[in-house]
Amino acid sequence: MADTKLIDLAIEASQHAYVPYSHFPVGAALVTKDGHVFQGCNVENASFGLTNCAERTAIFKAVSEGYRDFADLVIYGETDKPISPCGACRQVMSEFFNQDLPVTLVAKDKSTVVMTVRELLPYSFTDLT
Ligand code: THU
Repeated sequence: MADTKLIDLAIEASQHAYVPYSHFPVGAALVTKDGHVFQGCNVENASFGLTNCAERTAIFKAVSEGYRDFADLVIYGETDKPISPCGACRQVMSEFFNQDLPVTLVAKDKSTVVMTVRELLPYSFTDLT
């Protein structure tokens, strides 16, 4: 399981969420193997489909800064049970993460479930070329 510091960083990230439509803040903390942490929050739009989820924000921040060697991802939502990431985010995780990378899902009471990328998206679509 991710350490409590990483969970706290995901919770902190959720405080920056831009959620005027859903009022559902989500935060993520993504750590690289060399210890860099990228935080992300969900960023919504009046055109709902343009919304970017918290975990994709964190992944895109890291990739755009040249980091692709990931160790751990924590996702926090104000849910009763540990948050379940959407299908789009599972596909993006599958693109950039080792399939055995642990993803820690955190509920509002800080209870957690850890699942690998493979468990989150079995039989995922991969590059056909
Ligand atoms: N959301 C995330 O940011 N991550 C998830 O894992 C689940 C959903 C966001 C998208 C939208 O801003 C809000 O939560 C409600 O769907």
